Amino acid sequence: MDVVSRCLLSAQEADSLCAAAQSALTAQGSPAHPSFYEGLEDHFHRIPASIRHALRDLRESPTLCALHISGVRVDPERCGPTPLSWQAGLDDDRQALEEAQLALLASFLGSVFAWPTIQRGRMVQNLLPVEKDREEQSGHGSVALEWHTEDGFHPDRCRYLALLGVRNHDRVPTTLGTVHDLGLADDLRAVLRERRFLIRPDLEHLRQLAAYAPDSDMLRQARAMHENPEPVALLFGDPDAPCLRIDAPYTTALPGDDEAAEALAAITGELDRAQRDVVVGEGDVLIVDNYRAVHGRRAFRPRFDGTDRWLKRISVAGRAPAPAMAGAGTRSQAL
Ligand SMILES: [Fe+2]
Repeated sequence: MDVVSRCLLSAQEADSLCAAAQSALTAQGSPAHPSFYEGLEDHFHRIPASIRHALRDLRESPTLCALHISGVRVDPERCGPTPLSWQAGLDDDRQALEEAQLALLASFLGSVFAWPTIQRGRMVQNLLPVEKDREEQSGHGSVALEWHTEDGFHPDRCRYLALLGVRNHDRVPTTLGTVHDLGLADDLRAVLRERRFLIRPDLEHLRQLAAYAPDSDMLRQARAMHENPEPVALLFGDPDAPCLRIDAPYTTALPGDDEAAEALAAITGELDRAQRDVVVGEGDVLIVDNYRAVHGRRAFRPRFDGTDRWLKRISVAGRAPAPAMAGAGTRSQAL
């Protein structure tokens, strides 16, 4: 079963996407701000038909877990050196054309949003290694980033995660594991479908809130979700085409529930076994269905000299394929 579809742009298609992004930039302003996305659908018709078909396939297929597009126009020289911190990238508009292309593709799938807790709510985030964060489980670390559902702890987590490669000389892989990779017995699946698991917020949310909004209600809520999380199921939706929600470092079985602990060990082992590498290189866009796939990153050795791996990230809200799950989001999610 093909779970990652490929879309290789011709030079003409790449030029057309770039021109569509340029006209959106002229009309809408910076993709870093929410106002860019108001009325952006007026520009969708300028996205080449082959790309629109590939995006529709991802949205409508019961089996596809990711779409890998190659050949998007990226100009690393104009973009500048890889920033040494996400703060340095906040007001840098040299990558606006690249961001607008990613924003157009992502918006075609649903409503783009940003967490106010991550990179101060910037709608397009910079993923790059930060020297002091080498050991962190985040987009700024350089140790192996364990596989996870993006914001798996939160009911309003994104439906799709869209990444664009500005620079990746070392071809550092992103990892993917999908719900179709799970060779699990029915009794284990039944346990995984029950609310017998806890997923705590990742520490990046808590760290940034503590740094930038130490007295906020959001920080209090995030701490409550960390200290007293609601039990959740890890598999849900249609049993024949289930959805998945798990975050390796932050997921536990309910205390004392040995059966749930056994099922968690089994699904963790299957996802460890199934990880595949996808290199998001210069001009690649990888869109991951966050309800059907987990993702991570292999360890790498950064240089911190402006040439390191640099990706752009956008989150897209959207309803889960199963009727029971909520997932719709707003333009700026609150915890
Ligand atoms: Fe992630």
